[in-house]
Amino acid sequence: MSKLLELHQVNKTYSLNQNQVLALNNVSLEIQKGEFIAIVGASGSGKSTLLHLLGLLDQPSSGEVIWNGHKTKSFSEKKLATIRNQQIGFIFQDFLLLEELSVFENIALPLLIGSSKAGLTKEQHDRVLKLLAELGLEERAHHRPAQISGGQKQRTAIGRALINQPKIILADEPTGNLDSKTGQQIIQLLTKIAKQENITLIVVTHDEHLAKLADRIIKITDGQIK
Ligand SMILES: Nc1ncnc2c1ncn2[C@@H]1O[C@H](COP(=O)(O)OP(=O)(O)OP(=O)(O)O)[C@@H](O)[C@H]1O
Ligand SMILES: [Mg+2]
Repeated sequence: MSKLLELHQVNKTYSLNQNQVLALNNVSLEIQKGEFIAIVGASGSGKSTLLHLLGLLDQPSSGEVIWNGHKTKSFSEKKLATIRNQQIGFIFQDFLLLEELSVFENIALPLLIGSSKAGLTKEQHDRVLKLLAELGLEERAHHRPAQISGGQKQRTAIGRALINQPKIILADEPTGNLDSKTGQQIIQLLTKIAKQENITLIVVTHDEHLAKLADRIIKITDGQIK
């Protein structure tokens, strides 16, 4: 196995009205390629903050975030944006789909963001169709988010996270807005595809059953990993 991401003595402080909140306190960890990790901890313990740093969405106040062996501190905003678009897939609790786009278009969106061309190539179009089939969404391809169920919305968000064949998927409470049965199905689907394509998977969850499915559980308490 080789390392995809490393945090070295990372601190993250938020400033709010002259108060400082230490959201992450001296966190070091290594994530291997292909690993499935669950992040658990109480509300406010720092899980989303950790996920944002791992997804290169935010920078630490001190310490190093190392992506594929390279310190990210020196990366330009453009380089960070390219990595986020092409190598990292994000899934959020409230799906964050674009309401005016269809299921097909929501899944295809990251392909268009990263491209100078106006439309999809034949190959890209076929990949969207393949993912729609894999996610059981073929018959909803031309529906908009308002016209599908919560589980289907989350499957659409998974499709969008997978479309660029990322190295890693980061999911923040991906089943938080779903009933437990649908949530389980979503996680089964996500873990199956991640294993199949050797994608590293990091899932923040409150659900113990879900956490137990992971190769490793990272517990965070008051910004610290113990
Ligand atoms: N932008 C911000 N400005 C100030 N404080 C923040 C900010 N974002 C988060 N915090 C604080 O940092 C701490 C960690 O927040 P974080 O969102 O990482 O927690 P969490 O573990 O994801 O919680 P939850 O389970 O409720 O989503 C909390 O005390 C929170 O209030
Ligand atoms: Mg959170």
